[in-house]
Amino acid sequence: MTAAALLALSVAAACAFIYSGVYDVSGNAPDNPVVAWMLHRTYEASLHHYGGKDLPPADLMSLENIRAGARLYDSTCALCHGAPGKPLSPVGQGIAPAAPHLLEASRRNNPALMFWVIKHGVNMTAMPSFGKTQSDATIWQLAAFLYDGRGITKDRYDSLQRAN
Ligand code: HEC
Repeated sequence: MTAAALLALSVAAACAFIYSGVYDVSGNAPDNPVVAWMLHRTYEASLHHYGGKDLPPADLMSLENIRAGARLYDSTCALCHGAPGKPLSPVGQGIAPAAPHLLEASRRNNPALMFWVIKHGVNMTAMPSFGKTQSDATIWQLAAFLYDGRGITKDRYDSLQRAN
């Protein structure tokens, strides 16, 4: 009896909270630090639980793959994740949580983990699931570029965009 009453009370309180409108959903203020921490820990644990199981192609780190990944990165990812020597786009500046700088020298960018995130996206963030539109082969090329591109200079970034 008591348990049922408590449950009904919690459901009623949750509904009152949802319908009251007091929770501020605006995206221009940073997340509450507790919420941000919980979401990020959940993400990291989920990534390591589900990701890293797909097998990369044997020629993963070929120049051809890195180059193809670099081009797709520039047209599709740089707007949120940034590129050397380019200002971040209005989209990248506006999203919260912000997208991490994937080309920093300090990153690990484990290709199998990157593959999983790129393919499936990250729920409740701006990170899209590219498995809906790109083949696995293309996603491995992006992962190859992210691994090779850690700490990349503007010159190398620009040279990978050129035809040869
Ligand atoms: C509209 C913005 C947006 C675009 C476009 C976008 N991303 Fe993201 N991406 C994000 C955000 C935001 C996160 C952080 C998610 C989080 O907080 O867990 C993220 C996370 C990631 C991560 C995980 C990084 C980590 O440290 O675990 C990878 C890898 C990634 N993106 C790759 C890509 C690639 C490759 C592309 C292009 C094919 C791309 N993203 C396009 C917004 C974007």
